[in-house]
Amino acid sequence: MTKYFGIIGNPVKHSLSPLLHNYWFQKYNLDADYSIIEIDKMNLPNIIKRIKDKSLSGVNVTLPYKQKIINYTDKIINDAEATGSVNTLLLDANTKVIGENTDVFGLQAAYLKEIDNGTNKKALVIGAGGVSPSIILSLQKSGIKNISIINRTMEKCLFLKKRFHYLNVLDWKNLQLEIGKFDIIVNATSLGLKNGQDFDFNFSGCKNDATYIDIIYNPLKTKTFKFLEDKGVKVFNGLDMFIYQGQKSFYLWNKINPEIDDDLIKILLSKLK
Ligand code: ATR
Repeated sequence: MTKYFGIIGNPVKHSLSPLLHNYWFQKYNLDADYSIIEIDKMNLPNIIKRIKDKSLSGVNVTLPYKQKIINYTDKIINDAEATGSVNTLLLDANTKVIGENTDVFGLQAAYLKEIDNGTNKKALVIGAGGVSPSIILSLQKSGIKNISIINRTMEKCLFLKKRFHYLNVLDWKNLQLEIGKFDIIVNATSLGLKNGQDFDFNFSGCKNDATYIDIIYNPLKTKTFKFLEDKGVKVFNGLDMFIYQGQKSFYLWNKINPEIDDDLIKILLSKLK
């Protein structure tokens, strides 16, 4: 019998998750299908019901529901509990709907292994929206003790500091002034997204040996990414993080750790510019 999976969010039409998971279902000969489920907030309880009655075998959660879905799950575990952010739903042996977070693993697996002597490094998270708790936790788990956050809306930083007491909160108007102090800079804002606004800010003050991680992968290279790449800064886009979070979700649902092979990368890249 075919198993059904999907991603809930709004807007979510352009998600590449179906491509990722359906590629792996085919590769491992699983009778399963993964689709996009664009829903309103009032349909969240129905998704939980469908997981319980097994008409859905696994669900990814994206913006704007990563926090909201917690009101409807039976239990949240591990990184989901630590971040208050859920991107993966599954049913446990006792038919409880469990919320887990694979974004934290995604970021760690994708980039943080590349950072030498991470423990002595200073990290800056730009943005305090839905993905920021996962970024903060993955930096912390990688042993980075000095983590700062900056956001246009200061209140959201202060809210995050309630959960992550060790955060240094910076003032948005000082971004340009502060940027040169950091070894790892993560763009967790939506600035640079395809058809969206970009930073109206000059990154030339960045350290040349800094690492810049942009959570955005569509476009593959944001304006800031290109600028820093040209400057010789080590740069990463969000594609690897996306693939690794999917890999862990796939494992949680199917108990197969799927291979990230060249064909998969090729297919994903063909959808992006
Ligand atoms: P949400 O804020 O609903 O969680 P998100 O997509 O998860 O939405 O986060 C968007 C992030 O990009 C936020 O950090 C947002 O800053 P605000 O909290 O001040 O809104 C940031 N962002 C979006 N547009 C921005 C802009 N024009 N300038 C600066 N930051 C921006």
